[in-house]
Amino acid sequence: IPVDLFDLVIFGATGDLAQRKILPGLYRRFISGQMPQGARIIGAARSEMDAEGFRTQVRAAIEEFVDAAKRDPGNIAAFLDCLDYVSVDATGEAGWDALRDKITPGRVNAFYFSVAPMLFGPLAERLKAHDIARDDARIVVEKPFGRDLASAKALNATLAAHFEESQIYRIDHYLGKETVQNLMAVRFANILFEPLWNAQYIDHVQITVAETVGVGGRGAYYDKSGAMRDMVQNHLMQLLCLIAMEPPYHFDPDAVRDEKVKVIRALQPIPAADIVRGQYAGVKASAARAAQPGYLEDSENPESRTESYIALKVQVANWRWQGTPFYLRTGKRLRGRASEIAITFKAPPHSIFDEDESSWRENVLVIRLQPDEGMNLKVMIKEPGPGGMRLVQVPLDMSFAEALGEEGADIPDAYERLIMDVIRGNQTLFMRGDEVEAAWAWTDPIIAGWEARGDKPRPYDAGSSGPEDALMLMHRDGRRWREIR
Ligand code: BG6
Repeated sequence: IPVDLFDLVIFGATGDLAQRKILPGLYRRFISGQMPQGARIIGAARSEMDAEGFRTQVRAAIEEFVDAAKRDPGNIAAFLDCLDYVSVDATGEAGWDALRDKITPGRVNAFYFSVAPMLFGPLAERLKAHDIARDDARIVVEKPFGRDLASAKALNATLAAHFEESQIYRIDHYLGKETVQNLMAVRFANILFEPLWNAQYIDHVQITVAETVGVGGRGAYYDKSGAMRDMVQNHLMQLLCLIAMEPPYHFDPDAVRDEKVKVIRALQPIPAADIVRGQYAGVKASAARAAQPGYLEDSENPESRTESYIALKVQVANWRWQGTPFYLRTGKRLRGRASEIAITFKAPPHSIFDEDESSWRENVLVIRLQPDEGMNLKVMIKEPGPGGMRLVQVPLDMSFAEALGEEGADIPDAYERLIMDVIRGNQTLFMRGDEVEAAWAWTDPIIAGWEARGDKPRPYDAGSSGPEDALMLMHRDGRRWREIR
């Protein structure tokens, strides 16, 4: 279904994110018929260039980042026709009047700030001063939204000076992932899980976002950030919220976000013993694999104490979750790329079978976010055969691609979905200002704690499953991490 007619201005249109995600994503929406005829995408950046130059750049981005099967020359040419470009000076006055002339009244009026956060204020101010953003305009801002509570508050205040909260779309691209939204469908569209969804029946929850990539190429940004700020404060926190939140009264932006904020506020401070930070160490070439650089080389900071891996034991202090820990871990240069949530249920209260305990396995619900999006419920059944009542655990495994056929295989990229939500005016999958602040309020003392103690991250081999100490975090509770493959 096409969205309403829009003018979308992308600040930072020549930057990496715009070229890799935003513009290829818009192209895919265009070929799926969701962009209405006449909609305009206006690139804005400092580089002096005309619309033709911008189109040439975007064509190259499509060639690089869109699947060959979707790159029909006619479609590409038609999409490039929707593009325009203006050179603007974000902190000066050049280009703003030219930008205003390109905006058509009566359309959805949207502005994507794909720029460094220090430019949010100057852009917001100029959009208003030059009468470019209307009272119903929408602005989209990228992460990182601050690096601590104070800076996030300052950013919120800067934006609030020019725009209402209902006009501000703070992106956390994890919320745009199809399977992440599916978490809400699984929980709130089925009766099966909700009665068991609490500390009485759930032993613990594991949330893993493992990556194989390192930080090479963006070391300067990452070294000031680290896994806690780059991944936990936003992406893993969002996943935790969707698992832990109470049912909202309606699938409505504020109803959903109210429930998420309550979860964040219920998060307990984390003692030092429940935090493991790691940093990948380089490995030499061997017969089995090529050499891999270590974090200190990738970040170009030989003294760095920034963590490229973190594991945490998190407690949600409320009625539903008291006593069920959430174990979170994320890291770079790990053995495999896998994001998943595993919910381990408690064992039945009493076994009627004469089984020795070692064959007993708890039910586990695994939600795979990427790759191979799907769900896997591990259940106990009788082992087939005449050997008596022997039990075995088997997976009820569903891959969305198989279950839904072509539709399931063609999962849209997170950014595509989110940009279309901006045009539709739906903020459900965007973070509200108080939500971001609550997340920083929880994160700040954890980071301040390890800084004050002078903790160094533990080294782990590039290509491994993380530091040994992370294993202990669960072992000492009689539990263990799922394997990263
Ligand atoms: C970004 C982080 O927000 O998310 C990156 O800055 C990380 O460090 C990326 O690699 C992971 O996103 P995805 O969609 O590849 O899981």
